[in-house]
Amino acid sequence: MKIQENESIELPKENPEAKDFLPLLGTDYVELYVGNAKQAAYYYMSAWGFQPLAYAGLETGLKDRVSYVIQQDKIRLVLTSSLVAGGEINRHVDAHGDGVKAIALWVADSASSYRETTSRGAESYMTPEVLEDEDGRAVISGIHTYGETVHLFVERKDYHGVFLPGYSSWNPRYQPTSVGLRYIDHMVGNVGWNEMNKWCEFYAKVMGFAQLVSFDDKDISTDYTALMSKVMSNGNGRIKFPINEPADGRKKSQIEEYIQFYNGAGVQHMAMATNNIIETVSGLRDRGVEFLTVPSSYYDDVLDRVGEIDEELEPLKELGILIDRDDEGYLLQIFTKPVLDRPTMFIEIIQRKGAKSFGKGNFKALFEAIEREQEARGTL
Ligand code: FE2
Repeated sequence: MKIQENESIELPKENPEAKDFLPLLGTDYVELYVGNAKQAAYYYMSAWGFQPLAYAGLETGLKDRVSYVIQQDKIRLVLTSSLVAGGEINRHVDAHGDGVKAIALWVADSASSYRETTSRGAESYMTPEVLEDEDGRAVISGIHTYGETVHLFVERKDYHGVFLPGYSSWNPRYQPTSVGLRYIDHMVGNVGWNEMNKWCEFYAKVMGFAQLVSFDDKDISTDYTALMSKVMSNGNGRIKFPINEPADGRKKSQIEEYIQFYNGAGVQHMAMATNNIIETVSGLRDRGVEFLTVPSSYYDDVLDRVGEIDEELEPLKELGILIDRDDEGYLLQIFTKPVLDRPTMFIEIIQRKGAKSFGKGNFKALFEAIEREQEARGTL
């Protein structure tokens, strides 16, 4: 199903077309392979308000890797680095730079999730493994998705420890305050030319997802660059994975720039939800997080486009927060500059006020902002 221009977009509260045979209870954690996990953890704590949760490394019996687990409300990030030369983590970092390796999904039964997905054609990453320590047992299995990204199925109903077996509680003196981030709203994958439909079909066939909404290149092309995007969601609507592919434009697509620097498909952005975007973004900005800005002319007619909103316009304009509306309500959103050295992954902050969509009305203003950054990098 492709939604034509001007056709109204209906977004179901949940996704009735999806077949929830897994089912997915939520995002369990996101693991990044990084060059220096200790310093990455400190960045996400100091700049992003994550709190320390768990640790695994030499002190807990690991020989070749270290992981720091940090948390803010329901969002858990795991930052993992190699402690030795060579090996899978270093190879991943060499190829991709710091980036998301695993989107771990919380399930009731990991072995059944593995069976249901691999029997539908998913490539195995990890057969179900039982992990145990004095706090109970957890089961983890995994499958491959786009690029070198994987999905892990985490079953933790019999586990009562701080994170997962093998991790010890991490309770340093430094306990930064939250900036109000609550949960992962969606995670977006960038895939190569003409690969969007292949990966949407993967999520439909292998994981029982259904498509929520699509943007074609007419919706989201600027003078120079373009992309296509479709949003896949599971049945209960807790997991939403938009998939982007590059489209032809006069100059290089921002998706192509990503693919070039990431060396293939991967996670483009994580969207984190807040209940008060003005407070959250003010806090992040004070702590050094850099956001994309739009020209102040964006705000001249934005209320004509989106109608009445609860917030004052002035602070939104001051912070560069974007506004969009769909049939069910409106949303406020803003995007950071890349949070890594390479122009690859960034983070979106989103506050939903009824809207179930993804800010389509902002895409043009946003992409023009991204192009100004690409111009400065000489990669447009
Ligand atoms: Fe997004």
